[in-house]
Amino acid sequence: MNLNYNNFYEFNMSKSVAKPAQALKIRPWTIAIDGMVEKPFEIGIDDLLKQVALEERLYRHRCVEAWSMAIPWTGFPLAKLVEMAKPLGSAKYVRMETFKDPTVAPGQRQTWYPWPYVEGLTIAEATNDLAFLVTGAYGKPVAKQMGAPLRLAVPWKYGFKSIKSIVRFTFTDKQPKSYWEALQSAEYGFWANVNPKVPHPRWSQASERVIGTDESRPTLLFNGYGEQVAGLYTGLEKERLWT
Ligand code: MTE
Repeated sequence: MNLNYNNFYEFNMSKSVAKPAQALKIRPWTIAIDGMVEKPFEIGIDDLLKQVALEERLYRHRCVEAWSMAIPWTGFPLAKLVEMAKPLGSAKYVRMETFKDPTVAPGQRQTWYPWPYVEGLTIAEATNDLAFLVTGAYGKPVAKQMGAPLRLAVPWKYGFKSIKSIVRFTFTDKQPKSYWEALQSAEYGFWANVNPKVPHPRWSQASERVIGTDESRPTLLFNGYGEQVAGLYTGLEKERLWT
Protein backbone atom coordinates (compact mmCIF):
# COMPACT_ATOMS: atom_id res chain seq x y z
CA MET A 1 0.00 0.00 0.00
CA ASN A 2 1.30 3.43 -0.78
CA LEU A 3 -0.44 6.42 0.72
CA ASN A 4 2.60 8.64 0.81
CA TYR A 5 3.52 9.17 -2.80
CA ASN A 6 0.98 11.39 -4.49
CA ASN A 7 0.58 14.18 -6.96
CA PHE A 8 -1.92 16.73 -5.67
CA TYR A 9 -0.62 20.12 -6.72
CA GLU A 10 -3.33 21.98 -4.84
CA PHE A 11 -1.42 21.07 -1.67
CA ASN A 12 2.19 21.05 -2.83
CA MET A 13 4.50 19.98 -5.58
CA SER A 14 6.47 17.38 -3.65
CA LYS A 15 5.02 13.87 -3.48
CA SER A 16 4.47 14.24 0.26
CA VAL A 17 0.99 15.65 0.34
CA ALA A 18 -0.56 13.24 2.85
CA LYS A 19 -0.21 15.69 5.74
CA PRO A 20 -1.27 18.99 4.16
CA ALA A 21 -4.16 17.27 2.36
CA GLN A 22 -5.78 16.47 5.73
CA ALA A 23 -6.96 20.11 5.77
CA LEU A 24 -9.48 19.28 3.04
CA LYS A 25 -13.03 19.05 4.44
CA ILE A 26 -14.88 16.28 2.61
CA ARG A 27 -18.30 16.67 4.28
CA PRO A 28 -20.54 18.31 3.31
CA TRP A 29 -19.43 17.78 -0.31
CA THR A 30 -21.71 18.92 -3.10
CA ILE A 31 -21.33 17.88 -6.71
CA ALA A 32 -22.84 19.98 -9.49
CA ILE A 33 -24.02 18.44 -12.75
CA ASP A 34 -24.62 21.07 -15.39
CA GLY A 35 -24.15 22.25 -18.96
CA MET A 36 -25.88 20.36 -21.77
CA VAL A 37 -28.12 18.16 -19.63
CA GLU A 38 -31.90 17.82 -19.43
CA LYS A 39 -31.95 19.58 -16.05
CA PRO A 40 -28.87 20.72 -14.10
CA PHE A 41 -28.75 19.62 -10.46
CA GLU A 42 -26.58 19.40 -7.39
CA ILE A 43 -26.21 16.32 -5.24
CA GLY A 44 -24.41 15.66 -1.95
CA ILE A 45 -21.82 12.89 -2.04
CA ASP A 46 -23.75 10.71 0.44
CA ASP A 47 -26.97 11.00 -1.59
CA LEU A 48 -25.03 10.12 -4.73
CA LEU A 49 -23.54 7.06 -3.05
CA LYS A 50 -27.03 5.84 -2.13
CA GLN A 51 -27.89 5.71 -5.81
CA VAL A 52 -24.97 3.64 -7.06
CA ALA A 53 -23.68 0.12 -6.50
CA LEU A 54 -20.06 0.16 -5.37
CA GLU A 55 -17.58 -2.36 -6.73
CA GLU A 56 -13.87 -3.08 -6.32
CA ARG A 57 -11.40 -2.94 -9.20
CA LEU A 58 -7.64 -3.44 -9.29
CA TYR A 59 -6.24 -0.94 -11.80
CA ARG A 60 -2.79 -0.11 -13.03
CA HIS A 61 -1.94 3.59 -12.69
CA ARG A 62 0.74 5.06 -14.95
CA CYS A 63 1.86 8.61 -14.29
CA VAL A 64 3.22 10.69 -17.15
CA GLU A 65 6.39 11.07 -15.03
CA ALA A 66 7.13 7.36 -15.73
CA TRP A 67 6.19 5.84 -12.37
CA SER A 68 3.42 3.34 -11.80
CA MET A 69 1.41 1.49 -9.15
CA ALA A 70 -1.43 -0.99 -9.03
CA ILE A 71 -4.27 0.26 -6.83
CA PRO A 72 -7.37 -1.58 -5.58
CA TRP A 73 -10.08 1.04 -5.98
CA THR A 74 -13.68 1.05 -4.77
CA GLY A 75 -16.21 3.03 -6.76
CA PHE A 76 -18.69 2.94 -9.60
CA PRO A 77 -18.59 3.40 -13.37
CA LEU A 78 -18.56 7.00 -14.58
CA ALA A 79 -21.17 5.75 -17.09
CA LYS A 80 -23.63 5.56 -14.18
CA LEU A 81 -23.17 9.26 -13.41
CA VAL A 82 -23.51 10.13 -17.11
CA GLU A 83 -26.79 8.21 -17.13
CA MET A 84 -28.03 10.11 -14.06
CA ALA A 85 -27.02 13.42 -15.68
CA LYS A 86 -29.17 12.82 -18.78
CA PRO A 87 -26.91 14.67 -21.24
CA LEU A 88 -28.48 16.15 -24.37
CA GLY A 89 -27.66 14.45 -27.67
CA SER A 90 -25.56 17.48 -28.63
CA ALA A 91 -23.14 17.03 -25.67
CA LYS A 92 -19.83 15.51 -26.78
CA TYR A 93 -17.59 15.90 -23.74
CA VAL A 94 -17.73 15.85 -19.99
CA ARG A 95 -15.58 18.45 -18.23
CA MET A 96 -14.66 17.78 -14.59
CA GLU A 97 -13.49 20.28 -12.02
CA THR A 98 -11.72 19.97 -8.64
CA PHE A 99 -12.66 22.11 -5.60
CA LYS A 100 -11.13 25.56 -5.35
CA ASP A 101 -10.37 26.88 -1.89
CA PRO A 102 -7.01 28.57 -1.39
CA THR A 103 -7.69 28.74 2.37
CA VAL A 104 -7.19 24.96 2.62
CA ALA A 105 -5.05 24.30 -0.45
CA PRO A 106 -1.86 26.40 -0.33
CA GLY A 107 -0.94 25.53 -3.92
CA GLN A 108 -4.03 27.43 -5.05
CA ARG A 109 -2.58 30.63 -3.59
CA GLN A 110 -0.15 30.49 -6.49
CA THR A 111 -2.40 32.50 -8.72
CA TRP A 112 -0.35 32.04 -11.90
CA TYR A 113 -1.56 28.42 -12.09
CA PRO A 114 -4.89 27.87 -13.88
CA TRP A 115 -6.97 26.73 -10.85
CA PRO A 116 -9.24 24.92 -10.46
CA TYR A 117 -7.78 21.66 -11.81
CA VAL A 118 -9.85 20.66 -14.84
CA GLU A 119 -10.00 17.49 -16.87
CA GLY A 120 -12.19 16.16 -19.63
CA LEU A 121 -13.20 13.07 -21.56
CA THR A 122 -15.35 12.46 -24.60
CA ILE A 123 -18.75 11.00 -23.74
CA ALA A 124 -17.62 7.80 -25.49
CA GLU A 125 -14.59 7.59 -23.17
CA ALA A 126 -16.64 8.51 -20.12
CA THR A 127 -19.13 5.73 -20.82
CA ASN A 128 -16.49 3.08 -21.51
CA ASP A 129 -16.77 0.54 -18.72
CA LEU A 130 -13.18 1.15 -17.54
CA ALA A 131 -13.81 4.83 -16.69
CA PHE A 132 -14.35 4.66 -12.94
CA LEU A 133 -15.35 7.11 -10.22
CA VAL A 134 -13.40 6.28 -7.09
CA THR A 135 -14.70 6.58 -3.54
CA GLY A 136 -12.36 4.13 -1.83
CA ALA A 137 -8.94 2.48 -2.06
CA TYR A 138 -7.39 -0.48 -0.28
CA GLY A 139 -10.81 -1.37 1.12
CA LYS A 140 -11.28 1.97 2.92
CA PRO A 141 -12.74 5.37 2.03
CA VAL A 142 -10.26 6.97 -0.34
CA ALA A 143 -7.61 9.01 1.48
CA LYS A 144 -7.72 12.78 1.15
CA GLN A 145 -4.32 12.87 -0.56
CA MET A 146 -5.67 10.44 -3.15
CA GLY A 147 -8.59 12.70 -4.03
CA ALA A 148 -11.39 12.14 -1.51
CA PRO A 149 -14.29 12.01 -1.59
CA LEU A 150 -14.65 11.44 -5.36
CA ARG A 151 -11.94 11.10 -8.01
CA LEU A 152 -11.62 9.64 -11.45
CA ALA A 153 -9.58 6.61 -12.55
CA VAL A 154 -9.01 6.25 -16.30
CA PRO A 155 -6.26 3.63 -16.28
CA TRP A 156 -5.44 3.67 -20.00
CA LYS A 157 -4.46 7.34 -19.80
CA TYR A 158 -1.61 9.08 -18.02
CA GLY A 159 -2.41 9.73 -14.38
CA PHE A 160 -2.94 13.48 -14.74
CA LYS A 161 -6.27 12.72 -16.47
CA SER A 162 -7.49 11.07 -13.24
CA ILE A 163 -8.73 14.25 -11.58
CA LYS A 164 -9.11 14.32 -7.79
CA SER A 165 -11.72 15.72 -5.38
CA ILE A 166 -14.29 16.49 -8.08
CA VAL A 167 -17.03 19.09 -7.46
CA ARG A 168 -18.48 19.60 -10.95
CA PHE A 169 -19.33 17.65 -14.08
CA THR A 170 -20.22 19.86 -17.03
CA PHE A 171 -21.55 18.41 -20.27
CA THR A 172 -20.46 20.39 -23.32
CA ASP A 173 -19.92 20.29 -27.06
CA LYS A 174 -16.49 21.97 -26.73
CA GLN A 175 -13.34 20.03 -25.98
CA PRO A 176 -12.40 21.02 -22.40
CA LYS A 177 -8.97 22.51 -21.83
CA SER A 178 -7.37 20.57 -19.04
CA TYR A 179 -5.16 22.03 -16.33
CA TRP A 180 -1.92 20.66 -17.76
CA GLU A 181 -2.86 21.57 -21.29
CA ALA A 182 -3.55 25.13 -20.15
CA LEU A 183 -0.16 25.25 -18.41
CA GLN A 184 1.97 23.60 -21.07
CA SER A 185 0.21 22.46 -24.21
CA ALA A 186 3.51 21.57 -25.92
CA GLU A 187 3.86 18.71 -23.44
CA TYR A 188 0.35 17.78 -22.32
CA GLY A 189 -2.74 17.42 -24.48
CA PHE A 190 -6.35 16.40 -24.21
CA TRP A 191 -6.08 12.69 -25.05
CA ALA A 192 -2.98 11.55 -23.09
CA ASN A 193 -3.34 7.83 -23.81
CA VAL A 194 -0.38 5.77 -22.59
CA ASN A 195 2.01 4.82 -25.39
CA PRO A 196 5.55 3.57 -24.74
CA LYS A 197 6.60 4.52 -28.26
CA VAL A 198 5.74 8.20 -28.00
CA PRO A 199 8.22 9.94 -25.69
CA HIS A 200 7.39 12.94 -23.57
CA PRO A 201 9.37 15.87 -25.04
CA ARG A 202 11.75 15.62 -22.07
CA TRP A 203 11.93 11.87 -21.32
CA SER A 204 11.19 8.39 -22.67
CA GLN A 205 7.88 6.67 -21.90
CA ALA A 206 9.22 3.21 -22.82
CA SER A 207 9.43 1.95 -19.24
CA GLU A 208 8.16 2.79 -15.77
CA ARG A 209 9.41 2.66 -12.19
CA VAL A 210 7.10 0.65 -9.95
CA ILE A 211 6.65 2.66 -6.73
CA GLY A 212 7.54 0.74 -3.58
CA THR A 213 9.86 -1.66 -5.43
CA ASP A 214 13.20 -1.44 -7.27
CA GLU A 215 11.49 -2.74 -10.35
CA SER A 216 11.41 -1.06 -13.73
CA ARG A 217 9.13 -2.59 -16.30
CA PRO A 218 8.21 -1.97 -19.93
CA THR A 219 5.22 0.31 -20.41
CA LEU A 220 2.32 -1.14 -22.40
CA LEU A 221 0.21 0.53 -25.09
CA PHE A 222 -2.93 1.95 -23.43
CA ASN A 223 -1.27 0.84 -20.19
CA GLY A 224 -2.32 -2.72 -21.09
CA TYR A 225 -6.02 -1.89 -21.57
CA GLY A 226 -6.03 -1.74 -25.40
CA GLU A 227 -8.53 -4.54 -25.79
CA GLN A 228 -11.17 -2.50 -23.93
CA VAL A 229 -10.38 0.97 -25.27
CA ALA A 230 -8.49 0.95 -28.60
CA GLY A 231 -11.82 1.04 -30.47
CA LEU A 232 -12.61 4.45 -28.95
CA TYR A 233 -9.95 5.98 -31.20
CA THR A 234 -10.88 4.52 -34.58
CA GLY A 235 -11.09 7.39 -37.03
CA LEU A 236 -9.20 9.72 -34.67
CA GLU A 237 -5.70 8.74 -35.85
CA LYS A 238 -4.93 12.32 -36.89
CA GLU A 239 -5.48 13.58 -33.34
CA ARG A 240 -2.64 13.94 -30.87
CA LEU A 241 -3.75 10.80 -29.03
CA TRP A 242 -0.59 10.02 -27.04
CA THR A 243 0.51 13.12 -25.17
N1 MTE B 1 -6.02 16.01 -9.50
C1 MTE B 1 -5.89 17.22 -8.93
N2 MTE B 1 -7.00 17.87 -8.58
N3 MTE B 1 -4.68 17.78 -8.70
C2 MTE B 1 -3.52 17.15 -9.08
O1 MTE B 1 -2.43 17.72 -8.87
N4 MTE B 1 -2.49 15.19 -10.14
C3 MTE B 1 -2.71 14.19 -11.20
C4 MTE B 1 -3.91 13.31 -10.89
N5 MTE B 1 -5.04 14.10 -10.43
C5 MTE B 1 -3.60 15.87 -9.70
C6 MTE B 1 -4.90 15.32 -9.88
C7 MTE B 1 -1.55 13.36 -11.43
S1 MTE B 1 -0.22 14.08 -12.26
C8 MTE B 1 -1.51 12.03 -11.07
S2 MTE B 1 -0.21 11.00 -11.54
C9 MTE B 1 -2.58 11.44 -10.24
O2 MTE B 1 -3.56 12.39 -9.87
C10 MTE B 1 -1.94 10.88 -8.99
O3 MTE B 1 -2.86 10.12 -8.24
P1 MTE B 1 -2.35 9.43 -6.86
O4 MTE B 1 -1.66 10.51 -6.07
O5 MTE B 1 -3.59 8.92 -6.18
O6 MTE B 1 -1.41 8.33 -7.25
